[in-house]
Amino acid sequence: MNPISIHQLKKTYANGVQALKGIDLVVPSGDFFALLGANGAGKTTMIGILTGLVNKTSGKVQVFGVDIDLDHPRAKEMMGVVPQEMNFNMFEKVEDIIISQAGYYGIPREKAQADGEVILRRLNLWDKRNAQSRTLSGGMKRRLMIARALINHPKLLILDEPTAGVDVELRLAMWDFLRELNRQGTTILLTTHYLEEVEQMCRQAAIIKNGEIIKSDLVKNLVRLIDQETYVVHVEKVTSLDRLNGFKTTLIDDGSFEVELTKNERMNDFLSRLNSAGMVLTDIRPKGNRLEKLFLKILKQ
Ligand SMILES: Nc1ncnc2c1ncn2[C@@H]1O[C@H](COP(=O)(O)OP(=O)(O)O)[C@@H](O)[C@H]1O
Ligand SMILES: [Mg+2]
Repeated sequence: MNPISIHQLKKTYANGVQALKGIDLVVPSGDFFALLGANGAGKTTMIGILTGLVNKTSGKVQVFGVDIDLDHPRAKEMMGVVPQEMNFNMFEKVEDIIISQAGYYGIPREKAQADGEVILRRLNLWDKRNAQSRTLSGGMKRRLMIARALINHPKLLILDEPTAGVDVELRLAMWDFLRELNRQGTTILLTTHYLEEVEQMCRQAAIIKNGEIIKSDLVKNLVRLIDQETYVVHVEKVTSLDRLNGFKTTLIDDGSFEVELTKNERMNDFLSRLNSAGMVLTDIRPKGNRLEKLFLKILKQ
């Protein structure tokens, strides 16, 4: 059973905004999957539908084979959710927040206390168990959100922009923690607009733009795709760029042009084609790291 299976999911809000325009998505068991997209792409809407905060307009959503239209409570039992916005009671104590959450799942108080201790210790919050949540630092609040999401031992953890506005040190610690959780068998879906986060943690990613998935692939393939580098090529004279078909070139002046090459892979190929096109190379150098720019380019496709 796939933890998440989504077919032709659409959402139009009451104000007419089409936030999702027919999403198809499968997250297999054990995966670490990213939903990558800019603000307003539709990420939170999709998470909201999975977790029951947003009603879908049409389409089919299954969580471990359970259709959310037929049994959303059952689907929710199997997931843990870390929402984008902090939403716990600021006056409640840390431990109580965890225990009340357990109550929603019908977990007996003693078990909730025992499990809560393990989770709070693991997230370095045990010393704060009696503190009101409003007194926690920003990083501790984030960890509390995760701790709360783990109390029902979910097989699927969903995080909506878990590291937005989080400092570097905490971000690295959170990556470690999530990677470990995934290694232990928890399937993870997260949304982010940080490419770096995806590269560091995720196995697969779907790039979402204006309510549509414009690309979905293994992260290693996506990275290869954006690992294209633009080179500035100087030749004695640019004669026939059209003879370099298959390579993406942009003319600069009569002695130079730009070419996009996938790192290392096609360099030899390019040089021999240049030679057979009768152009004499005088210099070639990378234009610089444009990783982020290229990522934006995919988004704009
Ligand atoms: N409750 C709402 N009512 C109307 N429009 C909404 C609502 N929530 C989100 N939207 C709109 O839906 C689109 C997708 O938003 P959202 O899912 O929050 O994107 P993301 O999480 O990727 O930033 C945006 O255009 C946003 O303005
Ligand atoms: Mg969002």
